[in-house]
Amino acid sequence: MKKLMAANWKMYKTSAGAEQTARSLVQAVAADLPGDREVMVFPPFTAIASVVEAFAGNENFIVGGQNCYPADEGAFTGEISPRMLLDLGCRSVLTGHSERRHILGESDEFVGKKTAFAVQSGLHTVLCIGETLEQRESGKLAEVLARQLKSGLGELENGVNQEVLSVAYEPVWAIGTGKTAGPPEISEAHGLVREILQDILPNTGAAIRILYGGSVKPGNIGEIISLDNVEGVLVGGASLQADSFSQIVLG
Ligand code: G3P
Repeated sequence: MKKLMAANWKMYKTSAGAEQTARSLVQAVAADLPGDREVMVFPPFTAIASVVEAFAGNENFIVGGQNCYPADEGAFTGEISPRMLLDLGCRSVLTGHSERRHILGESDEFVGKKTAFAVQSGLHTVLCIGETLEQRESGKLAEVLARQLKSGLGELENGVNQEVLSVAYEPVWAIGTGKTAGPPEISEAHGLVREILQDILPNTGAAIRILYGGSVKPGNIGEIISLDNVEGVLVGGASLQADSFSQIVLG
């Protein structure tokens, strides 16, 4: 399975700015991209079309939505469906990002509905999970990861595999804070995620890619990407500039 080098641009960049960054990224990376890596970028909805355009012709550069609603269409003001993302040229989507859980109040159950619907719609779905500092300090890491994974994947059929699903482990306390989880913390959490995945998905859990996210930078990518059970990264701040994200993609 290819390592998944993913960028979450959150609520940053206009359409023109996103296109420029995407073009610079292709220029910096496409020729040297190892065969065992692929690039995935999650721009804001308004910039998806321009990034799709910038990536055209590059099979290993995938565009995704940062969120979706679990229905094809309907009276859901302000929401976007998987079908609409596919229509724009997206091949992927994020579900359950910590900012949606903690700022927008999304429940584990709602994240589970979205994840199942997105997978069934044909989008490669990256389910995001992770504990708060308080949960970690009170010894609840394993419990939180198990709960988020069980509810996040609870509505999926057993046939789900690594082609249609990845999991991103993003400890909330390491997102945008400059605090990266160290290799022992990442290894412990990814090992737990692997065990739980194999429990929930006995046939495919061993091959589902687990991405790490939280203050990944050019300076720490080498160490992180070589750890066991780390099959990719999901990068926020350091993915906004083509220069730093290309170092991460190739790092
Ligand atoms: O989804 C990526 C993310 O939440 C991590 O953000 O800025 O810590 O790399 P950052």
